[in-house]
Amino acid sequence: MKTLHSLIFLIGKQKTIFIFAILTLLLGVTFEASGRLVIRDIVDTVLADKINLTNMKNLILLFTFCTLMQGTFHFISARWKTSATESIVRSIRNKLFNHIQQLSFHYHDHTPVGELVQRATSDVDSVRRFYGDQIPGILQIIFRCLIFFAAIALIDIRIALVTSIIIPVLTIISTFFFHRIYQAYDLLQTCEGEVSSSVQENLNGIRVVRAFAQQNYENRMFETKNRAQLNAGLKEVFWHSSYWPVAHILCGTQLCVSILYTGYTVINGENTVGTLVAASFLFNGLIWPLQDLGRLITEISHSFVSFNRIEEIMTEETEDTENNISRDSTLIQNDDKPLSDRYKNHSQSADNSNNFKLPLRLEGHIEFENLCFSYGDTAPVLKNISFECKPGQKIALVGETGSGKTSIVNLLPRFYPYQSGKLLIDRIPVTDYPRNYLRKNIGIVEQNPFLFTTTIRENIEYGTDRDIDFEEVVKAAKAAAIHNDIMRFPLKYDTVVGEKGISLSGGQKQRIVIARTILKDPHILILDDSTSAVDADTEQCIRKAINNLLKGRSTFIIAHRIQTLKEADIIIVLKEGEIKQQGSHDELIKVPGFYKDIFEIQTRIEKELILEIESNRKGKL
Ligand SMILES: Nc1ncnc2c1ncn2[C@@H]1O[C@H](COP(=O)(O)OP(=O)(O)OP(=O)(O)O)[C@@H](O)[C@H]1O
Ligand SMILES: [Mg+2]
Repeated sequence: MKTLHSLIFLIGKQKTIFIFAILTLLLGVTFEASGRLVIRDIVDTVLADKINLTNMKNLILLFTFCTLMQGTFHFISARWKTSATESIVRSIRNKLFNHIQQLSFHYHDHTPVGELVQRATSDVDSVRRFYGDQIPGILQIIFRCLIFFAAIALIDIRIALVTSIIIPVLTIISTFFFHRIYQAYDLLQTCEGEVSSSVQENLNGIRVVRAFAQQNYENRMFETKNRAQLNAGLKEVFWHSSYWPVAHILCGTQLCVSILYTGYTVINGENTVGTLVAASFLFNGLIWPLQDLGRLITEISHSFVSFNRIEEIMTEETEDTENNISRDSTLIQNDDKPLSDRYKNHSQSADNSNNFKLPLRLEGHIEFENLCFSYGDTAPVLKNISFECKPGQKIALVGETGSGKTSIVNLLPRFYPYQSGKLLIDRIPVTDYPRNYLRKNIGIVEQNPFLFTTTIRENIEYGTDRDIDFEEVVKAAKAAAIHNDIMRFPLKYDTVVGEKGISLSGGQKQRIVIARTILKDPHILILDDSTSAVDADTEQCIRKAINNLLKGRSTFIIAHRIQTLKEADIIIVLKEGEIKQQGSHDELIKVPGFYKDIFEIQTRIEKELILEIESNRKGKL
């Protein structure tokens, strides 16, 4: 009942059109029943001893008029119904898409993409049938029951009562099937979601599957899920198809009983032959559509399942991206007091947190104080992290894989909430900044760069929120050392990348994303292993360009090459989520530890390489 209520509530603004569609449907059914009633008089006039031609002509005109009106109202009803339905579904789809975009990183980490795609497509489509087919269908049956019952009652109330025996019987049976089909369809949709997730994941990782020759393993995994879907589908079809013979037998029996009873009254002289003929038409108009009641009730169960699946997503908590934002944007623009003055007292007054004016730009003073963090209920990933990044400083994070480097930088734009300790930006807790504000002011080049299936130019321009000149795009591309590569593509900056276009190497993708971030002009920059897929020369080019462009901005660099790490003001060495060492390059190479080890290894390898190259050169000479 709650589901039905929610679905009806969603009609919202389309209420008026929907009501008109239903009223015209009611009129259509009324004219249909009236036309059939006229048949009685036509037959009786034909069978009369002396045919009254004028009367006959009038009756035929009346019958034609009723038929025309029936068709017209059904047509208008269908038009309005479709228009209202499409608008309702458009609004559901928009709301769902918008909601999915606002769900937390944590939610997306745990929800397969295929599952979300299925809910946004096939489940929405199933809900569309509720408004476009099921509600009008059920209402039509109800109207038919009432109006045709009244029409038959006009002929003979006893015949009407005998004919309506089927209504409660079929309703009870349909309800029984409704529950069975609801359960079966719920299972089927879950299985279908798993199959589509499986296909999606397989396609995303098709290169890995091939590279590891895992096609057979993947086939077996897919077959298991596919079989589960088949079983669920068979169960659903079983209940669905069982309904039809039951309903058919019931309706056929009812029709026989009604005709026999009416025939009996005609033989007894209580009714005319015209009554029998007209009643037969009315029975057909009442009984056979009742069969459809079962189909509609069972299909409504599909829509309920789909709607509840959509509701599951809609009730998931979203990230509040705009919280604490000061609506007085003019104040933001005009306030040119030094930021540190403005926030001097802020950290002491927690209550103030929602009242401060967002600065036009961040200074980039970042402090971690005893911060602990874990993803959901898992073991802590970061433990007692404390360090300070002064405005304009460059912080390098280094450590073994899985030591928590990405996790640290993910906390700055509030991708995840931390559990304890403090993280302050310009002396204000990050939690006091609206997420969107932080994300607009912090540029992040992620470890796994993502490009949209569009042109290189649009990929670079993405997320800037302002009109960009082509020269700016080129400048950013040059700074990211990708311009020359782009100029080698046939359509240059208009080359489409991704599924429908050119495939790029990992390093090229990384540099396009760096160009995108440079164009965003962030006040705090995060480069997460973003030069890992480029050679040492290119890395140096990018480093120089970025160094020039981002002077005076706080930067977090996650890297492994000593050349990059060396330039940082502070190097943070992480191990299993804890800071093991921190200091400058000169300080850290003096003390034994992870940093000194990688420095020595890399220096030794470099020396060996230089020696090898030189000896090769001498050999050639
Ligand atoms: N989204 C996530 N949900 C749950 N656990 C995660 C998530 N991302 C990372 N982790 C876990 O957190 C720990 C730290 O991961 P993180 O990605 O920060 O490491 P990293 O130092 O960046 O490693 P790498 O050098 O391989 O990129 C790992 O144990 C990892 O399994
Ligand atoms: Mg990482």
